[in-house]
Amino acid sequence: MNFNKVFQSRVTKLPALYCLMAVLFISQPNAETVIQLDTNSPGAIINKNIYGQFMEHLGRGIYEGVWVGEGSKIENVNGFRTDVLTALQELEVPLVRWPGGCFADEYHWRDGIGPRDQRTVTVNTNWGGVTDNNAFGTHELFDFAELLGAEVYINGNLGTGTSKEMAQWIEYMICDSQSTHANLRRKNGRDKPWKVDYFAIGNEAWGCGGSMTPEYYTNLYKHYASFLKTPGDNQPVMIASGGHTEQLEWTEHLIKNVESSWAMRMQAISHHYYTLPTGNWDKKGSALNFDEKEWFSTLKNTLRMEGFIKNNLAILDEHDPDKKVGFYVDEWGTWYDAAEGDDPGFLYQQNTLRDAMVAALNLNLFHQYAERIHMTNIAQMVNVLQAMILTDKEKMLLTPTYHIFKMYVPFQDAVSIPVSILGGEQYQFGDEKLSKISASAGIGKDGKLYLALANVDANNAESLTIKAEQSLHTAVGQILTGNKLDTHNTFENPHVIQPASISVNAKNGDLSFMLAPKSIVVFSIE
Ligand code: AHR
Repeated sequence: MNFNKVFQSRVTKLPALYCLMAVLFISQPNAETVIQLDTNSPGAIINKNIYGQFMEHLGRGIYEGVWVGEGSKIENVNGFRTDVLTALQELEVPLVRWPGGCFADEYHWRDGIGPRDQRTVTVNTNWGGVTDNNAFGTHELFDFAELLGAEVYINGNLGTGTSKEMAQWIEYMICDSQSTHANLRRKNGRDKPWKVDYFAIGNEAWGCGGSMTPEYYTNLYKHYASFLKTPGDNQPVMIASGGHTEQLEWTEHLIKNVESSWAMRMQAISHHYYTLPTGNWDKKGSALNFDEKEWFSTLKNTLRMEGFIKNNLAILDEHDPDKKVGFYVDEWGTWYDAAEGDDPGFLYQQNTLRDAMVAALNLNLFHQYAERIHMTNIAQMVNVLQAMILTDKEKMLLTPTYHIFKMYVPFQDAVSIPVSILGGEQYQFGDEKLSKISASAGIGKDGKLYLALANVDANNAESLTIKAEQSLHTAVGQILTGNKLDTHNTFENPHVIQPASISVNAKNGDLSFMLAPKSIVVFSIE
């Protein structure tokens, strides 16, 4: 082992110091990997909305996770729990998608407006069959987004709503005239129209959204879009519900058949892909206590995302060479089996170092394809699937995924920089191999160069040398790692896994260091 290289990387901040030192000493170095940064060829802007968050009326995602109500014993700001709000503000959440998901196609907006104690109580037939008192509705969503400084993505109800209901919701939100719906909004406490940044017609039309064919959905999309009239200065980006996993026919049919005229606008097609450790929906795999086989298969399944993106983008490039239509992965993340004792309809799951790695791999991919991917939403923000935050009544913890999103904040609206990964070893498990290093780079809004690196290998560190056209001096940043594959935070021990500081000094204009196994780093490089 080249100890000089190891100790050029100075790691501070306990307790991660001990973990990192331990993994560095037991690791075997491989052939060196060179990370070449092409700073002279800046690429597309990494739209901040790639860091969008999805929140659905599902389990404890909204009720308890975000909304506790003004009378709650849990400290809150106008009904939104203060601890969660503060943590999300630190993440600089750029965009919130609501109200679903599958829930969106059964959501009737009128149920969620007016005095809270008079709102309709509905049954959430998608998620656990629980009642929903609709205390969180349109006004609460916009108040929440305003507190976060986030843009708003509303998912309209195509499945059980009419084009009239959808058009009137839009009118309620954005109309500035004296119409009945605009005045109803005023009566309910909001004078000025809101800005609806994004609006989708339906969700997962191939499944919970109505089990449609692409042909049938495309016709319905055009039908509904024709009646969503919006003023010129308040036009949401219109999103059509696309396919999932390896499906291509949704993108193909939509791009060939929906004209981008004013009446039938379609500025983006959505796509969903969830990472399942086993790839099998009947036995997805467990959030905790998994072995290296499932670490490997989870990361391998995550990286399938690149193929799905490439194949869909090839179709879009053929039919829309000017890249007018975006490709939004508006649901992504890990999905595990419910833990014993948990309500399977609530999709609550723990979140480990493995989830942090999944997040880093996906974000690095989204950066790479930023030219067409202007928005993505991790599913979901709090207490559901791959969450940023978990709560248990008044307690809350930040997950490893939260820490990745925080470390990656400088990439929001950064200019992407091409990265070549040259040489080095692959991560081998059994007969299968994965690229060991994942990377992405960008020039942040502050003018600094940022580089994200992940070593997916569960056991071996990697010797890395970072090079650019210009001479490099230092790299300063944060590293996230843990001593076990499923290292995670609990309500009793909420700081087991959190980022530690790391810095590297250059030699002869290059930065060389050992990247610990199963670790993710974000550097600011000078
Ligand atoms: O995120 C949970 C569910 O996953 C969403 O409601 C749905 O769109 C998808 O199938």
